[in-house]
Amino acid sequence: MISIEKIRAQFPALNQKVHGHPLVYLDNGATTHKPQQVIDAISHYYSIQNSNIHRGVHYLSQQATDAYEASRETVRKHFNATHLHEIIFTKGNTEAINLVANGYSKLLNKGEEVLVSAMEHHSNIVPWQMACQNSGAILKVIPMDKDGVLDMDAYKNLLNSKTKMVAVNHISNALGTINPVKEMCTLAHQVGAKVLIDGAQAGPHCFIDVKEIDADYYCISGHKVYGPTGIGALYGKEELLRELPPYQGGGEMIATVSFEKTTYADLPHKFEAGTPNIAGGVALKYAIDWINEIGIDNIQKYEKELLDYAHQQLATIEGMRFIGQAKEKAGAVSFLVNDIHPYDIGMILDKLGIAVRTGHHCAQPVMDAFEIPGTIRASFAVYNTKEEIDRLVEGVKKAKSMLE
Ligand code: ALA
Repeated sequence: MISIEKIRAQFPALNQKVHGHPLVYLDNGATTHKPQQVIDAISHYYSIQNSNIHRGVHYLSQQATDAYEASRETVRKHFNATHLHEIIFTKGNTEAINLVANGYSKLLNKGEEVLVSAMEHHSNIVPWQMACQNSGAILKVIPMDKDGVLDMDAYKNLLNSKTKMVAVNHISNALGTINPVKEMCTLAHQVGAKVLIDGAQAGPHCFIDVKEIDADYYCISGHKVYGPTGIGALYGKEELLRELPPYQGGGEMIATVSFEKTTYADLPHKFEAGTPNIAGGVALKYAIDWINEIGIDNIQKYEKELLDYAHQQLATIEGMRFIGQAKEKAGAVSFLVNDIHPYDIGMILDKLGIAVRTGHHCAQPVMDAFEIPGTIRASFAVYNTKEEIDRLVEGVKKAKSMLE
């Protein structure tokens, strides 16, 4: 049994008032707050260890390099990846997907196909559109039903020998749907396609075992797993990362450089040009350690209770319309109330100290599919409470009475 009180005490940002009300932070899908040990790790790095990594023979550079590489090992273990060099540090999921898609823009041939799902974030659509424009490949979309569940029959029909890549999120940021990524990988592999899984929303909520899923690429963003912004991790199978052309050129990603010819560094450095976000990398370890101290199974169980409670309580509001009613959901509830614009409700909730996200959530095609301008999204972290959900429900009721 986890003590939410003890957990909350570790997050200084939660203990504040907004517009005179105790903060209710339900925008964790956008970014989570950070526990003290992550904040301390960043401060410790800049106070004591600050130095560039992989470059100096001096003491501080060694210290910084060791701390940064310890984090890579923590991520490897967390993903259950076989090799340390299969973990690439990135700025976050947008960069991770661009890194892979940019490589595929050189590997894809005219007429080959890339599949994305109908519930992708723009960051898992636009890079693939660019790769298709550059290569002459064709982008196709796996449709979803009215509950926000992927149509697996349509997916099976779309897969064929021309399919080279399937790019899908593990959990939809706009709907909360958990996608059957393991099954999707098995099916894709039967036609020789590779699968990239955008794990941005799954990172804080579920076990990620890349071997079990048999993912070819899997990425997470640090700031959504209680870590810093500007850092993330991409897992790729060794043989695929070896074939994938580098994303950016510069220092650290080379073996030798002359004006005639450059050879590239070995993995993972081939994909890590320039000085990275060292403090972010170092602190990411503390965020993942923090999750593991609580236990992802405890987190899952507790967050499921929160999500079920949120659905139950919000459903008592007349005119409530849930967007995304998959049986398998995690992390978020998206909704509308009658014809009230989500932004108007969001503004009133803010005045009551309640932080939610409103709008299209960087998933415009999802909103188009439901023929809506956007939603109000309450997204949860392990530090949220049922009392906070009660405040949300009261707030929505109040907004409704003011706006109708
Ligand atoms: N992708 C983030 C969200 O869903 C920013 O809010």
